[in-house]
Amino acid sequence: MTNFNIIPDRRKIFNINKWTWFPKDVLPMWVADMDFPAPKPILDSLDKLLKHGVLGYELPGKVLHETVAQRMDDLYNWKVSSESVIVIPGVVSGLNIAASLFCTDKKGVAVQTPVYNEFHEVKNNNRVPQVDIPLRKKIKGNIISYEIDWILFEKQIKKTKVFLLCNPHNPLGINFSRRELIRMAEICIKHKVIIVSDEIHSELLLDKNKFTPMAKLSKEIEKNTITLIAPSKTFNVPGLFCAFAIIPNKELRDKFQKEVQRLRLHVSSAGLHAAQAAFSGKCDSWLWELNRYLTANRDFLVNYVSKNMPNVKTTIPDATYLGWLDFTETGIENPFEFFKDNAKVALSDGKIFGKGGEGHLRINFGTSRAILKEGLDKMSKAMKNS
Ligand SMILES: Cc1ncc(COP(=O)(O)O)c(C=O)c1O
Repeated sequence: MTNFNIIPDRRKIFNINKWTWFPKDVLPMWVADMDFPAPKPILDSLDKLLKHGVLGYELPGKVLHETVAQRMDDLYNWKVSSESVIVIPGVVSGLNIAASLFCTDKKGVAVQTPVYNEFHEVKNNNRVPQVDIPLRKKIKGNIISYEIDWILFEKQIKKTKVFLLCNPHNPLGINFSRRELIRMAEICIKHKVIIVSDEIHSELLLDKNKFTPMAKLSKEIEKNTITLIAPSKTFNVPGLFCAFAIIPNKELRDKFQKEVQRLRLHVSSAGLHAAQAAFSGKCDSWLWELNRYLTANRDFLVNYVSKNMPNVKTTIPDATYLGWLDFTETGIENPFEFFKDNAKVALSDGKIFGKGGEGHLRINFGTSRAILKEGLDKMSKAMKNS
């Protein structure tokens, strides 16, 4: 059993990280990495690499491609060939490569706001237009959820070439249903829009939820989809930068592969070794325990907000370790600055996620229960004292 209540001190690490970005007296609950050590099989594989001592060039071998393809089969019964798998340094690189290859200066990317800030950078990085498709907020008591406005979805998708789907969704924690995915895909196919499905959070499932990759839904959808996955969020190894694009459509894949080669987007040997251990199945019992712990943290967060934070609304995320708090009815004008200054807690400012993010904060609950409680206690005290 892993004890997720114990977390190492990251303030001792000399480079900048989640714990050293803000001044020492500020509790960090922002960037999306967790405070837990990676599972032992990953650490053992890195240990082995270091003990060998030679850290020369390494390229991903056949075994790693096969391991990724096998994982898709094991998890979802999604059969992909190992040739469909392209190794890339990060999912964000994958989003940008796809936009650079398939967008034009008239037709760019579509995003469902509020959404992960890097989605908003794709338009700037590639000088292409961005079309927003805001998700529609629903309020029930102090619980908020979001749904797709289908008329708007089709109206906006038509104007683009690439749909950047975030599923599960950061920061809203939505695990889109098969029905929703099929409907989104059908509209994209109708308007010849390529789907780039960022599924980086797909294994961080709360409440034993099940995930369906977009591309698994039909052969036609698979042909129109670039799937981006990584072990980085799930096994907390984002600093090793290793991700995968799964592209069964050969025409799309060849273009993507060429661009990866042109830019020399190599992954470090440490990233390759960690990914092999992560996706081999050896870390699955750790992951099961992690998801149980995260589910309890999510419940703790939702209950805490309901009981102790008047007028604050919250999502109940299906997946991820990210909560989404709505302060629009609290009278707090700039929640990010308010809590940083008055509670000494740094969350992610909702504004960075685009339309619909103002007045909201994203909270990272991928930490020990004690740290989560400490952060929430500080926030609730600051609200009482204001
Ligand atoms: C939805 C989503 N995609 C991508 C990333 C980052 O991916 P990478 O570090 O592999 O570029 C994150 C990190 O928070 C994320 O939440």
